[in-house]
Amino acid sequence: MTFETAFTMETSSIKFGLGVTKEIGYDMKSFGATRVMVVTDPNLSENIAVQVTMESLKEMGIDAVLFDQSRVEPTDLSFNEAIRFAQEGKFDGYVGVGGGSSMDTAKVANLYATYPADLLAYVNPPVGEGRLVPGPVKPMLAVPTTSGTGSETTGVAIFDYLEMNAKTGIAHRALRPLMGIVDPVNTRSMPKMVAACTALDQVAHALESITALPFNQRPAPEHPGARPAYQGANPISTIWAERSLKMLTQNIVQVMEDPDNDEARGNVMLAATFAGIGFGNAGVHLAHGMSYPVSGMCETYFPEGYPDDHPTVPHGMSVIMQAPAVFRFTAPSNPELHLHCAEIMGADISEGNPNNAGEILANVIIDLMKRTGMPNGLKAVGYSEADVDKLVAGTLPQHRVTKLSPRPASAEDLEQLFLDSMTLW
Ligand SMILES: [Fe+2]
Repeated sequence: MTFETAFTMETSSIKFGLGVTKEIGYDMKSFGATRVMVVTDPNLSENIAVQVTMESLKEMGIDAVLFDQSRVEPTDLSFNEAIRFAQEGKFDGYVGVGGGSSMDTAKVANLYATYPADLLAYVNPPVGEGRLVPGPVKPMLAVPTTSGTGSETTGVAIFDYLEMNAKTGIAHRALRPLMGIVDPVNTRSMPKMVAACTALDQVAHALESITALPFNQRPAPEHPGARPAYQGANPISTIWAERSLKMLTQNIVQVMEDPDNDEARGNVMLAATFAGIGFGNAGVHLAHGMSYPVSGMCETYFPEGYPDDHPTVPHGMSVIMQAPAVFRFTAPSNPELHLHCAEIMGADISEGNPNNAGEILANVIIDLMKRTGMPNGLKAVGYSEADVDKLVAGTLPQHRVTKLSPRPASAEDLEQLFLDSMTLW
């Protein structure tokens, strides 16, 4: 096998600052759009971020049409609804305002309105065909209203494929927004649990992208166009992820305790954007791969601060619950690197050695979970040992991410990791 020898660093432009949403009309106009679909979810349609976006676009003479039916945790059905709206609307620009789901829905609406195809055409294999996006899509801007999913900087869109009861997605650099408008004003009304889950998702992005299989240990692509967006750990991604990890762990708890602290909230938001840049080019691995069935198969859990129309384990929560077991498992691949991550998160590593590196990192993650009000493992969100087989079966198709694990995980390994994630402390 020939190994990869190159990596690329691609990201969206970022505009950051208190109140920058009001400049979106100027930005959209500079990209040449005249008729724009603004995607958000029903809970946010009256939100200040949506209102300011619509006003700013209209002030610049842009015909802005609101689509407020994106689903928190999108499905193939909700994506198809947005695609139909986009195809009928003949738009030449898109804006996603909200959490990752609204931004992801805008990306997908843009893709399929520009290059119509069956939904599975561009979806990652093995669920979809993994067809390459034929060319550029229409300009899209992203306005996050949570502490960031990083979605504003990535070409990834995630959804629940209902038939298979699992999360999958579309990943292509053409889907990346042209600009992320990161405005701390837009997160002032964010519920505490949403703040915690989105920030812990970023912690996982940072940890997974730093510890992912290095880019030069991945097989070389057959041609440059086949180089994946998730390339593996690389020196530039790691810089962003390390800085982000530090800012997140220093600011999350402050945001939980005082949601009016604009500076701490701004730091978490900025850190989330950093993590997005790092993870968007490097990738994530087991904690994310295992989280998709945890979210997708949830039947009974209704977290506070989230819409109560369907049970869900929010993305960040479903990811972080696997993280302690995952990093205990991956630590032998590079104990120094795992200790380094623990130190960035504030752990004392003076007694660290190759045997306890995973435990030290797991403990500092668990400590952060406790301080941010996370449930104590999978049992606390309705799963039991009897669900492990189907959770493993739902993880195995997530090759795109799990193959970036620095230590290969067999079905038996995954089984043990889920068992270890049932109760964390
Ligand atoms: Fe994530």
